[in-house]
Amino acid sequence: MYDRLVDRFMTAYLIAILPGDGTGREVMAEAQSLLDAISANSTLDFEQMVIPCGGQYYLETGEEWPQGSFEKCRDEADAILLGAIGWPEAVCDNGDLAGGQVVLGLRAGLGLYANVRPIKLYEGVRHKVHGEFQQVWAADKVNMVIVRENTEGLYHSLLHRSALKATGGTEYEPPEMSFPGMNGDVAWDPRPISRAGSERVIDFAHKLVTLRNGNPEGKKKLTCVDKSNVTRGCQLFRSIFDEKAATWENIETDHAYIDAFTMWLVRNPEWFDVVVTSNMFGDIATDLGSVLQGGMGMAASGNIGDEHAFFEPVHGSSPKHAGKNVVNPIATLNSVQMMLEWLGHRNHDDEALRVAGYIDEAVAEHILAGELLTYDLGGSASTSEVGEAIVERVIGKLS
Ligand code: IPM
Ligand code: MN
Repeated sequence: MYDRLVDRFMTAYLIAILPGDGTGREVMAEAQSLLDAISANSTLDFEQMVIPCGGQYYLETGEEWPQGSFEKCRDEADAILLGAIGWPEAVCDNGDLAGGQVVLGLRAGLGLYANVRPIKLYEGVRHKVHGEFQQVWAADKVNMVIVRENTEGLYHSLLHRSALKATGGTEYEPPEMSFPGMNGDVAWDPRPISRAGSERVIDFAHKLVTLRNGNPEGKKKLTCVDKSNVTRGCQLFRSIFDEKAATWENIETDHAYIDAFTMWLVRNPEWFDVVVTSNMFGDIATDLGSVLQGGMGMAASGNIGDEHAFFEPVHGSSPKHAGKNVVNPIATLNSVQMMLEWLGHRNHDDEALRVAGYIDEAVAEHILAGELLTYDLGGSASTSEVGEAIVERVIGKLS
């Protein structure tokens, strides 16, 4: 820790910037401006290491990112920022998503087992329902975090294959299986869930509860979301949750099956504080959860492990909007905010924590002002107009 503190005062934070595909590149430009503005106006200093990557890069070069990129992210970067991965027709020879080596290779290869996805509704956001913009949920009733297990479950084979590719290893295929009553071609994805993998993500989620101020009803609570009435992996996950819950003090715990959870998430979001769930359930539930925030343009995330982390908007590359400068950059700016919080806690850097708070305030004030909003929030402002306006607000708080 001492070394880390000494380093901190001598050097800038080195941020690996992976713009990726489509609109990922446009929102990343706004994140880069934000980092530059913070460097210029505070004692924090960011150096940016830009790494081209993704499906479009694959179509151009035959590689998902330049050789050595994984190692740069692992060995050099203090933190990683990603725009979006995925492009139509960009598929590797083995059928895997081109660019998967980047997003999934980093998740598995760096042991980023907790995918942290806050669902927080800012005051003034209107939701697009039936094509109209309306205030559906109350801002003071939506403030939770879904912690998605990020290294195993239904994603395990692809994650493992992606990490091997990223590190120059061999291809991985799950073992052959036969299924009684099924003939001909059968494709299948194993869903392994381990004790160690469950313990670390459940512990992470518990720690997060202790650091937060509770759900909108003021209760500190951890909810285990699973399908333990059906799957063995979920039975193991829930039993580990229950073992640990018996030792926790000062927090409430409860369970929900994923199917019922999706209903309660929409109807009673105020019930939830931190939710912990397996990989694919978390993937699906957080897209639904983004609707409570005003859409995917508002959903930020962090992929966090014990030593490394990368931050990204939950949304994809949105090919139909790419190149038009119209998508919402707030999910990405809030991912920068999460990155600063992580760097701040990790390095005992109060300035990083303070600036993270300013980004959150700037976004809140920007939305409340309601003047410059992108199409998804009912406005017609451009990506760069919104980005610049929020960066200006952050600069105002710094000076
Ligand atoms: C996400 C994305 C990824 C996932 C894709 C791009 C592989 O949907 O981060 O939620 O499924 O995890
Ligand atoms: Mn997803």
